[in-house]
Amino acid sequence: MWGGRFAAGPSAIMREINASIPFDKALWREDIAGSRAHAAMLAAQGIISAEDAAAIDAGLARIAADYEADGVPEDWDLEDIHMTTESRLTELIGPAAGRLHTARSRNDQVATDFRLWVRAACERAEAGIEALQQALVTRAGEHAASIMPGFTHLQTAQPVTLGHHLLAYYEMLRRDRSRFADARARMDECPLGSAALAGTGFPIDRAATAAALGFARPTANSLDAVSDRDFALDYLQAAAQCALHLSRLAEELILWASQPFGFVRLPDALSTGSSIMPQKKNPDAAELVRGHSGRIVGALTALMVTMKGLPLAYSKDMQDDKPPVFEAAGLLDLSLAAMAGMIAESTFDTARMRGAAEAGFATATDLADWLVRAAGVPFREAHHITGAAVRLAESRAVALDSLPLADLAAIDPRIDERVFAALSVEASVAARASYGGTAPARVGEQVASARRALGMDK
Ligand code: ARG
Repeated sequence: MWGGRFAAGPSAIMREINASIPFDKALWREDIAGSRAHAAMLAAQGIISAEDAAAIDAGLARIAADYEADGVPEDWDLEDIHMTTESRLTELIGPAAGRLHTARSRNDQVATDFRLWVRAACERAEAGIEALQQALVTRAGEHAASIMPGFTHLQTAQPVTLGHHLLAYYEMLRRDRSRFADARARMDECPLGSAALAGTGFPIDRAATAAALGFARPTANSLDAVSDRDFALDYLQAAAQCALHLSRLAEELILWASQPFGFVRLPDALSTGSSIMPQKKNPDAAELVRGHSGRIVGALTALMVTMKGLPLAYSKDMQDDKPPVFEAAGLLDLSLAAMAGMIAESTFDTARMRGAAEAGFATATDLADWLVRAAGVPFREAHHITGAAVRLAESRAVALDSLPLADLAAIDPRIDERVFAALSVEASVAARASYGGTAPARVGEQVASARRALGMDK
């Protein structure tokens, strides 16, 4: 395709280091769509004849059918998906194929193909997130009043409801989804027609190709258009953030599924056994989601470092933009699907969760709050009195609300029998009814509004 200037062909090493077809063949659909839009525009502008455009279009349609059926052939001499397709087009329709590349370069071609691919990856991520959100909201509705220990420092802190805990991830995913939507809106400009770097002398219609490919508008600066990969970085940043959230959820499921916790039974379909220990059921899918998040962050780092310090416009370094994005997208799509399955199909052991909430003096803050409210004690002093009560309960290995009133009153005479109404885990969660709090009534409202936002209810 570029041999005219060269006396000798590339060495074997050059061929190998240069070839991107092993991975950029994944862009074949976008490449053919871009070429068909470009050829139609060239004909409409009178830059190529209608007959040539028709032959090009029919040839490209045939190539698409062949790729669909048999895959994309991998010939390193043809470097990349763009030259692979053009070379096949030449075999099929002869010299007219050579007119397709008028007013175009592989630089704007690859920028266009890759944007189309990344835009679709954003849409897939948004759909995958939505499915996981629906699973979370469904389970949160079932467990709006199921009590579990809430943790800070992974130490029992205050009782919360399982529904509230699950909705925390709904919120994270809501922001993740909006990051993909933002990225998609920003990348909604078509580079095609920027040509190699400076634009073209042919009377092309960039608005027409942009519209044909479903972009809002053409890019405004040809140098930027062929050099910009921040659309791919936007995707990877959104993917990395989302993967970090999935990793935290995965970690909690792994912890909760362990025998000492025993809060959840993960679905058999998303667990594995051990080849040696017959009793084992391992949370491999969750562990892999946690693990994959590292690779997704790695993909983001890889592309950031590739792009750092590149002068305008195109440099071949940028060919390395695709593998990290393809890898991250595959991992993210799978991770989202695996998490949705785990959330939808897990069985929560609510009795065990409740027991754990009762065991850890989780209502100590409620005793302190009661002293403030009912006895007018300053909070700092109430905190101190409650600490003494916890110490006593711990030494006797009983729950706070199992201490006899006489013993509580001996610690502070302002404590009376009304305190017991505040010390149950039910009373504790019901009391936390501030907006955004864990009270079952508040969680029920949040579930209802999330279901409306997701279109699950009218
Ligand atoms: N395979 C190349 C890539 O992915 C296509 C662009 C090549 N452009 C060039 N000037 N050599 O980046």
